[in-house]
Amino acid sequence: MKRVTIRVPATTANLGPGFDAFGCALSLYTDVTFEETEFGLEITGCPEEFTGPDNLAYVSYCAVMATMCEEVKGVKIHIDARIPVCRGLGSSAALLVAGAMGANILHGNKLSTQGLLNITNAMEGHPDNLAPAFYGGLTASMVDNGLPVCVNFPLHPDWEFLALIPDFDLPTTKARAVLPAQLSRADAIYNIAHGALVLKALELGDGKLLRNAMQDRLHQGYRKHLIRDYETIEALVRTTGAAFCLSGAGPTLLCITRDKDLEERLMKKLPQITEASWEMLPLHVEFQGAHVIGCE
Ligand code: HSE
Repeated sequence: MKRVTIRVPATTANLGPGFDAFGCALSLYTDVTFEETEFGLEITGCPEEFTGPDNLAYVSYCAVMATMCEEVKGVKIHIDARIPVCRGLGSSAALLVAGAMGANILHGNKLSTQGLLNITNAMEGHPDNLAPAFYGGLTASMVDNGLPVCVNFPLHPDWEFLALIPDFDLPTTKARAVLPAQLSRADAIYNIAHGALVLKALELGDGKLLRNAMQDRLHQGYRKHLIRDYETIEALVRTTGAAFCLSGAGPTLLCITRDKDLEERLMKKLPQITEASWEMLPLHVEFQGAHVIGCE
């Protein structure tokens, strides 16, 4: 095989209290094609600034090739990214996953998904986007001695995820830099308890429990000043009964509900109360993880 295209779903990390641990795959995709060549690197389909050797799909591709003791002679990479960049929907994780899978599949599938997860987690630093991108669905992860252990959790099929995506970006490094290095025991207990109940609410399809459990004292409160309109939108969403959280490190805000009219209800009010421009993107859970959509 000389050419392979990998489709990777978007992911929303944290889901409120599950900072660096919970994640869910969503129905928005980045497709990346890898073609082996005799020499050099060519990256197409993305802005010029992402076409160098620091492109995450290429970095990940090379890391997996090195693990398999394979030489990278040359590679052409074409990126068709529908996951918006730096918006908290797992665009970086998608490139890492695609690069890892691309290299593995082009070279005889020697590594397991866990092996690819270990390599990409070492690059990303936390597995909460990577795990659902690889496995699909809702995942929770822990890291022991540097190695991620990730499991899928059951998820009620009726949830609707409404992503509110602003016209500004927020680099994850900036959103992590504002977090305190230490937190109180009370806040740790708060997040552990709320996290456990978020998982149960998502399984049961219990909107009221989810709304109450989806609260956090570890990151959202420290990050909200980085996101224009955060508090205005949160207050509006809370009047609808939907659960609300920051998607990953933001700036996308996420509403989770079983109410099919939420988008329509927010559409009427949101533009009147916000300063930035917000796109509303209705999504559902993607239960299939990254997979091959073409090869030759
Ligand atoms: N858990 C990560 C964070 C997700 O909130 O910083 C973004 O990469």
